[in-house]
Amino acid sequence: MKGKFITFEGIDGSGKSTQLRLLASYLVERGKDVLTTREPGGTPLGRRLREAFLETEETVSPLAELLLFAADRAQHVEFLIKPAVAEGRVVISDRYADATAAYQGAGRGFKRETVARIIQLATGGLKPDLTLFFDIPVELAIARTGSRNNSEAGANRMDGESAEFYARVRDEYLAIARSDPRRFKVIDGAGSIEDIHSKVTEIVSRRFR
Ligand code: ADP
Ligand code: TYD
Repeated sequence: MKGKFITFEGIDGSGKSTQLRLLASYLVERGKDVLTTREPGGTPLGRRLREAFLETEETVSPLAELLLFAADRAQHVEFLIKPAVAEGRVVISDRYADATAAYQGAGRGFKRETVARIIQLATGGLKPDLTLFFDIPVELAIARTGSRNNSEAGANRMDGESAEFYARVRDEYLAIARSDPRRFKVIDGAGSIEDIHSKVTEIVSRRFR
């Protein structure tokens, strides 16, 4: 298992960050050289962008948002993901380009072709070797993030979106799964943390045997 790029996706509250930490520990215990990262905010510039356009009360135009996620990603791909994969590391990112297709495309309403062009420009065509999508009903996701919205830590502008918005985002992720089933695996995120972790390790082990 050398030089791999794995991404975790899901609507907010789907449990992907929890599962990412568990998978990273599992792989490290087995001697893998793992780098965990996230979007937005995987680089120093990305962290400043994240604060500026996500962790803010200011109204951000949908187009500015689309381009800022892309700017964060361009920096992330060039200075963190590509070099680490080239060194043979296993890079696991909490979100990547599929999030833009789902949130800015289906969520905000940008055309699929527009979003695809911007993703291509930002990533230079770099695709994950494997993407795990943690699928949970929108109501469960909202219940799980409810406590986060009321606390300072981790809250961001996206946490206040409507159930309809998250339903469109989820449907788009499921459409990506249908169009790219080898890369994009759907995992039922409604079970226990331990059961989901077992499924994750099974899929990862099978793919990178
Ligand atoms: P995400 O990164 O997808 O937003 P998190 O991993 O941060 O999701 O999880 C959101 C909340 O749900 C956290 O409070 C976490 O402890 C909880 N959680 C995560 N996985 C599960 C699960 N399988 N069952 C119940 N609660 C969970
Ligand atoms: P974050 O706090 O990282 O949330 P989570 O733990 O749920 O991933 O916030 C990232 C937010 O930004 C999340 O609501 C999804 C959104 N997002 C987009 O809208 N487009 C993107 O391209 C990316 C990477 C994230």
